[in-house]
Parts: sequence; C-alpha cells; structure tokens
Amino acid sequence: MRKVIIDCDPGIDDTLALMLAIKAPEIEVVAITTVCGNAPVDIGTKNVIKCLERLDRLDIPIYQGAKQPLKQPFISAQDTHGMDGLGETNRPINSRKTIEDQGAASFLAQTFAQDVPISVIALGPLTNIATALQLNPDMGRHMDRFVTMGGTYKSHGNCSPVAEYNYWCDPDAAALVFDKLGTCIEMVGLDVTRAIVFTPTLIEYCCRMDPDTGGFMRDITRFYVDFHWQQERILGCVINDPLAIAYFIDDTLCQGFDSYTAVETKGLSRGQTLVDRYDFWQKAANSKIMTDVDSRQFFKKFLTVLLNAHKETIEADLEKLQMG
Ligand code: RIB
Ligand code: CA
Repeated sequence: MRKVIIDCDPGIDDTLALMLAIKAPEIEVVAITTVCGNAPVDIGTKNVIKCLERLDRLDIPIYQGAKQPLKQPFISAQDTHGMDGLGETNRPINSRKTIEDQGAASFLAQTFAQDVPISVIALGPLTNIATALQLNPDMGRHMDRFVTMGGTYKSHGNCSPVAEYNYWCDPDAAALVFDKLGTCIEMVGLDVTRAIVFTPTLIEYCCRMDPDTGGFMRDITRFYVDFHWQQERILGCVINDPLAIAYFIDDTLCQGFDSYTAVETKGLSRGQTLVDRYDFWQKAANSKIMTDVDSRQFFKKFLTVLLNAHKETIEADLEKLQMG
C-alpha cells in the first residue's frame, strides 16, 4: 500500500475523492489536511469529519490549514457546493472527533523534513502546500509523488475563461508551488476531469446497487447537478477530485506530456496555467500535464471501490449502461 496525505477543500467532489482514497485497497491515507476553497476551512474540516464517520475511519488525523489565500481575498465556491460545502444536505456531526493541534502547513513541512515514502494529493487551492514550502524549501524533494487536481491546458476555465478554480482561488500559492516544489507536479486538470461526468444514470445505478452509499452520493450531488445544468447545461456533475485519486492509484488512466508550466498571478488571466509545451522559454519541465483519460475505466474503479457490490457485476453492468 502506498501512503498518501490528502490536502482538500470538501467540497462535494472532495468528499467523493476521500471516499475513494480511504476505501481503495492500494493506498493508505495517513493524514488529511484541509484548506479554504469550496467552503471556509472550518466547514471543510467538519465535512472531513462527516466523511470519516461514514467510513468508520475516525482514526485518520485531520490537520486544519489556511483560512485565506496567500494574498488574494478568499472567494469560496459555495455557489457550487452549497453553504455547508456538501450540497446543502446539512448533515450533523455525530462523533466527538477532534482535529490535531498542529496546523496543516507545519505538519506538511515537518513530515517532509527528510525522505519519506509518502505522496501528497492536493484537491484544493495550493495554499497549504505553498506555506509548507516556505517553511521547508526542500519539502518537494523528500516526498514520493505530488498530484494536484487543478489548472487547465486547452480546456476553458470554470471560474474565468482561462482559469480553473483551485489555482484561481489562490494563484500566488499555485505559482509558488509550480516554481519551487522541485518535484514533478502531476497536474490533473480540466482537460481530463471534464470527461468525468457523474450522470443521472450513474447516480441512479449507485442508488440501486447500494442504497446507503448511493443514496449519500445522490444527496450530496443534487445541488451540484443543478449548478451544472444552470451553468453549463450539463446533465450530471463533473467530479474532478476523484479522478486525481484514481490516477494516483493507476496512472494508466490518464495520458499527458512533460512541460514547464507557470501560473499567472494577477489580472484578467489570474490563475491561468501557462503550459510551455513547445519550450519557448527553454526551462526544464516541472510538471506532467494530463490531456487524455479513459473515463469508462475510471468509473469502473470508482464504483467498484465505493459500492458494496460484486466487482464483476458492476463491470458487466457498466459495459451496458449509457455512460454519456
Ligand atoms: O475546479 C475544480 C476544483 O475546485 C475541484 O477540486 C473542486 O473541488 C474545487 O476545489
Ligand atoms: Ca477540491
């Protein structure tokens, strides 16, 4: 099992991603850090606790992180994820789970003070990662892999014509991480996540195969589906973050290319990832940019791990279901 720390901003798709990561047999989630993003960080932390309660994994430590971006005023995505960050489901916390006293950035900086076989998967704005890097400039060189859901190469943005939310929310953090991390940044951006649409057909399938988990998935995504229909006339919802987890587990799910990438920090194109695929700037590659994804294979992994049903049954069913 490969050890991972997940930095996230739950968030509906973050929650689905945490479920996948925690239930997947290939990886061990050794800690979760939270950051402001989809919702204020204290709400995101509460949503992590709700997720861990559901999975009976309250043993996983939670380190709360940044309340606001490095420089920009904080702008949440509660219009997309609901005021509670979980689709206005307003589910209660039923346990007395407490979070760690140490802050997320300090924990990350300390964890990677020397080589450790632990990877980081970042599912939100990169504020914690950037702050940890400022505390420990060698952090990147001591971690195993770094995967981030964020950015976009050729696909249009989702919060401006050119920017994806995580890097738009804190462009200074994203720019610092791409400039200073010092290890390959495996960028799972909108070019591939847009193909991962959790459709009404798939949602209904989950409910029929596993009423408890499927019902939870339906409940927390309803608000998100409404947003996608109003905003982009998509029937279903793009579940970005689970793809970053699935790609970490099986990197054949996505194809891409190595490139030097920089992030714009100001102006109309703030948060834009400038992917220098053709090496105009003659700089060493710092990232791998994902451009193609096998969405059918993704959903096989996603649903066989999350649903309490026979793998063979799900795989056979998915072959027949309209995945469009
Ligand atoms: O742009 C999509 C990303 O921003 C996802 O990680 C979503 O959860 C939000 O954090
Ligand atoms: Ca997220």
